[in-house]
Amino acid sequence: MLTIDEAFRKFKSRLELNDKEQANASARQKEVRDYLDCKFEIDRSFLTGSYARWTKTKPLKDVDIFFVLKGSEDDYLSKAPSVILTDFHDALAEKYGNNARKQNRSINVDFGVTADSDDNTDYRVISVDVVPAFDKGDNFTIPDNELGKWIETNPTIHAEKAVNAHQAFSNEWKGLVRMVKYWNNNPKHGEKPVKPSFLIEVMALECLYGGWGGSFDREMQGFFATLGDRILDEWPDPAGLGPAISDGMDQNRKSRARSLLQAAEREATMAIDHVRHGRNGDALKAWRELFGPMFPLS
Ligand SMILES: Nc1ncnc2c1ncn2[C@@H]1O[C@H](COP(=O)(O)OP(=O)(O)OP(=O)(O)O)[C@@H](O)[C@H]1O
Ligand SMILES: [Mg+2]
Repeated sequence: MLTIDEAFRKFKSRLELNDKEQANASARQKEVRDYLDCKFEIDRSFLTGSYARWTKTKPLKDVDIFFVLKGSEDDYLSKAPSVILTDFHDALAEKYGNNARKQNRSINVDFGVTADSDDNTDYRVISVDVVPAFDKGDNFTIPDNELGKWIETNPTIHAEKAVNAHQAFSNEWKGLVRMVKYWNNNPKHGEKPVKPSFLIEVMALECLYGGWGGSFDREMQGFFATLGDRILDEWPDPAGLGPAISDGMDQNRKSRARSLLQAAEREATMAIDHVRHGRNGDALKAWRELFGPMFPLS
């Protein structure tokens, strides 16, 4: 039978990007870029967000692509964010129909790929988030429809922080972040406990400390405990530019997240207890129940 350590290692590798998925993501980026090039003056585009940092979970959904516009388009900057989002949406809807949906900071383009009951997509990306962006010094400015203003962001700073945290945690940090994001997406919760899931990564910059202790189950138990303790706190943008990441939830939603994180901590404690009493099979089942179908039983 699989040991708990083996199961977590297998789980971790299942949540890692592989070559086929990267090839599909690049092909989708090119497809959308080639199309948008006919509609807007685009300087460059690149895959970013958690995808580019290796903190995206599976199945691959909402992969962020920044489309950096040329200076000739900067009339948009003096208009409300909804204007550029509507223009991008209308352009993409011509090609993708109802599969293009306007969101707060991006247009989601769904490719009609569905995940099977094991959350596999045959190495294909389900959807991308098309983010219109402008250069602003070393940063970017992007539209935020709910705030009704342009906000600044710097994906390079977010990436550097993730790399540093990963190295300080014996290169296990990104794996743990992907796992908790996978838990967050488990449909058993109904709505996601933590929103946006980027908040999990931002909290992990502070909540995974003291170094890797050597066992996945203990780290996970402690991580859930600290997330539960600190989910009511204010969490600013780690780059110090955009609105607080914790602004994505109101008080009710935060206390719901706290209860679910605490429940996850209790489930983790029980799973650890099963192992202590020699019930390895029950422990595997408990972790799978907690995370979902990508956690292996064998
Ligand atoms: N409030 C914010 N201020 C500044 N930058 C932000 C803010 N929220 C998100 N970002 C940046 O935009 C990127 C994309 O945002 P998104 O919400 O898709 O997060 P993500 O890290 O890609 O997580 P997910 O795995 O859920 O897609 C983030 O990775 C981060 O670099
Ligand atoms: Mg994203």
